[in-house]
Amino acid sequence: MITFDSVTKRYPDGFVAVDNLSLEAETGQITVLVGPSGCGKTTTLRMINRMIDATEGQILLDGSDVRQIDPPTLRRGIGYVIQQAGLFPHRKIVDNVATVPYLLGWEKKKARDRAMELLERVGLDPKMAQRYPFQLSGGQQQRVGVARALAADPPVLLMDEPFSAVDPIVRTSLQEELLRLQAELNKTIVFVTHDIDEAIKLGDKVAVLRVGGKLAQFAAPKTLLSEPADDFVREFLGRDRGIRRLSFVSSSYLKLRTDLTVTSSSAAGPSDDAWLMVVSEDGKPVGWLDRDEPFGTYVHGKDSLRAALDAALLSSSGQAVALDESGRVVGVATRKALDEALSEAADG
Ligand SMILES: Nc1ncnc2c1ncn2[C@@H]1O[C@H](COP(=O)(O)OP(=O)(O)O)[C@@H](O)[C@H]1O
Ligand SMILES: [Mg+2]
Repeated sequence: MITFDSVTKRYPDGFVAVDNLSLEAETGQITVLVGPSGCGKTTTLRMINRMIDATEGQILLDGSDVRQIDPPTLRRGIGYVIQQAGLFPHRKIVDNVATVPYLLGWEKKKARDRAMELLERVGLDPKMAQRYPFQLSGGQQQRVGVARALAADPPVLLMDEPFSAVDPIVRTSLQEELLRLQAELNKTIVFVTHDIDEAIKLGDKVAVLRVGGKLAQFAAPKTLLSEPADDFVREFLGRDRGIRRLSFVSSSYLKLRTDLTVTSSSAAGPSDDAWLMVVSEDGKPVGWLDRDEPFGTYVHGKDSLRAALDAALLSSSGQAVALDESGRVVGVATRKALDEALSEAADG
């Protein structure tokens, strides 16, 4: 766990970049620092690995004051990823990734084997290992940056706007990759971004900072969306808070109807105006009975209520087709069921 206890950073010119900050970044979780440019995010992050020293207050790493640990020892346990990856241009990818193991005096082969393993872990073709950074796309370089930070298997990872310089599609895939990696690795991650959507997607907890380095709110994404602490946070979160909050409500609250599905072999069905979902022999959705209209699906219990609502809106019937994780139909969520779940979500 990383603890900020009343931390202030005053630069030599007197400017207060971080003002009396207290928060805890839990072990094994992603804690996001978000806020407008100049609000002190980078300063906060760099005080953890002592690239910058705090003026007042204490930062504790698992209970030890970081100022009592000499910087090289401290940084051995802390991976650091920055925007545009910051790779060494004249070193091959494999050697970039092996930077810290080399510094730690690992045998060359062991360091390179580790680098190759990590390249694969972050989703890069091993063939890239022999290239130089300029021969990779921005997104690929960013993956290398993550691999390099993980090379010596540090328990803590600091990430400063790592995905800000890549286009939105690559960015989404890097975010998903990070969440997948984190599910395997359980690092203690402090992630800095100015993008509130990224913060909400990645953070177990999110610290919203305002200019002057003041903490405006520190909460789980769901809480930020439902209970912003003040107008600054509300405005920073932007539009559609209500809809976005549904991303954190499980679709398992939806009551499914199983009587609205029919198997393709027994396609006689009732003749009233109900919409019936035809299901194939192996359980897959085929389409609405006697109606050549679109339908939307979601994975029941795994996807959010927002995904289920979206599926319903994409269905001409207004009902969402619920699937299990192998893509088999488990039922249909009617408008009534959605309505009930939405009312419950609104009540919290
Ligand atoms: N070395 C420095 N001396 C004086 N002011 C600085 C220094 N470094 C950063 N600042 C100021 O501190 C504030 C916070 O900077 P920074 O932590 O980089 O913000 P962010 O990462 O949120 O954009 C900014 O106003 C910046 O100009
Ligand atoms: Mg910054």
